Amino acid sequence: MDILSPVLGQLARRAGAALRHPLLAPLVNEHVVDFYARHLHPQLSMRQVIARVTARQAASADAVTLHLVPNYLWRGFRAGQHVTLTVEIDGVRHHRVYSLSAANADDVQITVKRQPGGLVSNYLLDQVYDGDYLQISPAFGDFVLPEPAPQKLLLIGAGSGMTPLLALAEALLQMPDYTGQVLVLNYGRSHEETLFHSRLLRLKTLHPNLRVVYGLTAEGVSEGELSGRFCARHLDELLADAAEWQVMACGPQGLVDSVKALWAERGYPLAPLTESFTPLAVPQATAGQQPVALHFRLAGRAVTGNNQQPLLQQAEAAGLLPASGCRMGICFSCTCRKTSGTVKNLLTGQTSSEPDEDIRLCVSVPLSDVSISL
Ligand SMILES: Cc1cc2nc3c(=O)[nH]c(=O)nc-3n(C[C@H](O)[C@H](O)[C@H](O)COP(=O)(O)OP(=O)(O)OC[C@H]3O[C@@H](n4cnc5c(N)ncnc54)[C@H](O)[C@@H]3O)c2cc1C
Ligand code: FES
Repeated sequence: MDILSPVLGQLARRAGAALRHPLLAPLVNEHVVDFYARHLHPQLSMRQVIARVTARQAASADAVTLHLVPNYLWRGFRAGQHVTLTVEIDGVRHHRVYSLSAANADDVQITVKRQPGGLVSNYLLDQVYDGDYLQISPAFGDFVLPEPAPQKLLLIGAGSGMTPLLALAEALLQMPDYTGQVLVLNYGRSHEETLFHSRLLRLKTLHPNLRVVYGLTAEGVSEGELSGRFCARHLDELLADAAEWQVMACGPQGLVDSVKALWAERGYPLAPLTESFTPLAVPQATAGQQPVALHFRLAGRAVTGNNQQPLLQQAEAAGLLPASGCRMGICFSCTCRKTSGTVKNLLTGQTSSEPDEDIRLCVSVPLSDVSISL
């Protein structure tokens, strides 16, 4: 919180604890309390982590780092984790997931790359400034450093996929007595669009055991740089002992898939740790699809859907606006109560027919008639 933070934070913590007392809790509506508390200070809340933007910094020609100071509900993070950010644009709330781009607990920051035509990234780049407030979730995600700390760590990132990798590199290199080697492979379309040049340079100056190599996919390269997308040739040019390195890769699904495929083809013993920023490809409805009845209870809508596409797309196609964020099953923004019917989880392949069950619409395909509290 800002200059009032220690006092307000303490007061808010105590007031929150008092209002949650078993005798008072049934009488307290946290939404109403939050509504009034916000008038006292934008970061006062019983339920939500509200962060103040304290600085903006260019991370490349088309990316900005926003430095955040969250309120007293923030519980910290591990390098590599992400948050779900909620913004209201033209009266509609939108959720997107952003990785934290630094390792230090007292330096909460996200780095956002502009997506041409993208709603939230353009809003954050063009309309959010120092002193603004953003709602974020607690940090989550398991794309974190393995234990024990790898002595040889290869970080392969493309575009905004570099954000958690920078945090991971910082976290490892700052460990006391760490003497291993870290190699960062940073891909982008051009020098201008590749993220974190100056921060990586600074990190390299502090830690001679860090090596950084740039790969450019749409621009000529200089000596020591790689041309084109990640491939076996790039790996072989850089490392004679790749089998001994722990690889962590992050970026578009194509990059993640090619890293996994190369490691599998060569039978390297350390499984790649990966995270993709790309939403799940929506399966196209095919001739074999079966019609199912979808009942969106709260909206009072009943439509005929199909048994092949996730409920999120089918609800949107029916004209509803369910909350969503990652569209790949990781942020839980789209969680809804299914009151009846059978769904299949696209991530696990499991089917479930339990009544009154919370499901994530973006990864749940209806296999029968389904009723949802939406
Ligand atoms: C785990 C995770 C971590 C992430 N971390 C980061 C991070 O650190 N930094 C970062 O910048 N991003 C990160 N992302 C991506 C981020 O969550 C957003 O997806 C990204 O910022 C784009 O959001 P947007 O609202 O700008 O784009 P959206 O409006 O969601 O659009 C996404 C793309 O689809 C296109 N599009 C939109 N609507 C249509 C349409 N009707 N037809 C055709 N195309 C359309 C847009 O042009 C755009 O290219 C992360 C994602 C995940 C899952
Ligand atoms: S939108 Fe993130 S879990 Fe569904």
